[in-house]
Amino acid sequence: MKLPKHGSNPQYVYSAMKMNKPDGVIDLSANINSFGPPNVLIDNWSQLLKEIVEYPDPYAQNLRRKISESVNVNVEKILVGNGGAELIHLIARMFAKKRILIVQPTFSEYENACRSFRCEIYHHQLTEPHWNIEIEKLKLSLSEMDALFLCNPTNPTGIVYSYETLKEIIEEAYKHKCTVIIDEAFYDFVMNYQSIVALLNEYENLIIIRSLTKMFSIPGIRLGYLMAANEIIQQLQSIQVHWSVNAIALTAGELLLEQEDFIRETQSHIKEEREALFSYFDSQHFLVSPSQTNFYLLRDPQIEDQFLLFSFLLEKGIVCRHTLNFQGLEGRWLRFAIKGKKEHTRLMEVMGEWRQTTPYYS
Ligand SMILES: Cc1ncc(COP(=O)(O)O)c(C=O)c1O
Repeated sequence: MKLPKHGSNPQYVYSAMKMNKPDGVIDLSANINSFGPPNVLIDNWSQLLKEIVEYPDPYAQNLRRKISESVNVNVEKILVGNGGAELIHLIARMFAKKRILIVQPTFSEYENACRSFRCEIYHHQLTEPHWNIEIEKLKLSLSEMDALFLCNPTNPTGIVYSYETLKEIIEEAYKHKCTVIIDEAFYDFVMNYQSIVALLNEYENLIIIRSLTKMFSIPGIRLGYLMAANEIIQQLQSIQVHWSVNAIALTAGELLLEQEDFIRETQSHIKEEREALFSYFDSQHFLVSPSQTNFYLLRDPQIEDQFLLFSFLLEKGIVCRHTLNFQGLEGRWLRFAIKGKKEHTRLMEVMGEWRQTTPYYS
């Protein structure tokens, strides 16, 4: 059995498990905003479609200007990409055959991308249940590395590492000419996230990646951007495919960056739902990761491998994300996206049924 290596497309999970996919599946395997895309995309759809008859601007001038205003970073320090995924692969190519440290468990694409460019890969392993960064140990390894990948908030735990911690790591890496890549694909789901963007002015070894996929529910459009020193931007741009970002994505990005109310509403919805879920899980003796974002890890402490719970949920039409390819988790946790009330009512009902069949003995 070979389970898919990413969330979404639940038909592949059912087919790998040799199970029939029930009608009305609840997909909690992909961390996409359950509000769906903001109305502004539907309202402007005919304008967006008109864009397809011309080649897109290969330098994404308008969108970069808009990002620049929104994040207060110079346009020259911004590169737009065909999703965060493309930007990760461009960075991996820039560091081909170099030594890369990855803070694990994390998004598997950092390692996939770096492996395809024959980098030497090292890991800084975080351990459950707190997944704290051992800062002194991490700092010691930086002198040997060319680059470090760290996801904040981290996929899959949802943990946010503090501004101070990140600054300390970036500062130490700077002394050793090691580039720090912070992937902030989920930062905008976190209430009062303390941005590290201003550090770009102090440290030329910092790259910050962002994605519009998750917040705006547009995985099919493919849009992300990164911020870094001009020299890094030029280097990455020189290896990026010309017209890599399509015209619909460029215009959609400009409209989406104005959706501040949508972001705020999403943040309070996520917080409210997360608190309700966590309080239920606690009452039923499930363990969760201390997430501050729109997904979390969960495990039933009575079983080591969570495969039985994973299959039970699938039978009931609930798809979560296995963690078999997250280093250090290897199936001992399951990842769930935070969606809407209706989905969560059903999830709690099914988890309650599981608890009845597997009573908790303290
Ligand atoms: C941490 C992280 N970064 C980047 C991405 C890629 O996002 P995009 O859809 O923008 O390529 C993902 C997708 O799951 C992710 O989890």
